[in-house]
Amino acid sequence: MYSEKVMDHFMNPRNQREIPDADGIGEVGNQKCGDIMRIFLKIRDGRVEDASFQTFGCGAAVASSSMATEMILGKTLEEAWEISNKAVAEALEGLPPQKLHCSVLAEEAIHAAINDYRKKQGLSLWGESGT
Ligand code: FES
Repeated sequence: MYSEKVMDHFMNPRNQREIPDADGIGEVGNQKCGDIMRIFLKIRDGRVEDASFQTFGCGAAVASSSMATEMILGKTLEEAWEISNKAVAEALEGLPPQKLHCSVLAEEAIHAAINDYRKKQGLSLWGESGT
């Protein structure tokens, strides 16, 4: 039921670690399934210098967070904010419909981590529209 890409990122997750001195940390959970995802960001000159994750959840959530950290590496904060759950699911060559919410967690965790960083910098928080 999973694509090869999903299996690959589940079996060999990229960036699965903590960043102890992260500039922004976003933690989100899905109440229904109880899965939790944490994204860590290291920001330099407005760009994602390092990104990592810890996910306590299903295989699709692990694969989504692994793919999401790969996708935001080197991106500006604006570009990272724009990465949607759809883009993550597409990069994984699709997720079964009942697993799409797992990629939503990745988008939400990135947003939470970016806003955690902005809060620590004394900057205004971004809303869901990215403004
Ligand atoms: Fe909940 Fe995948 S089943 S995140």
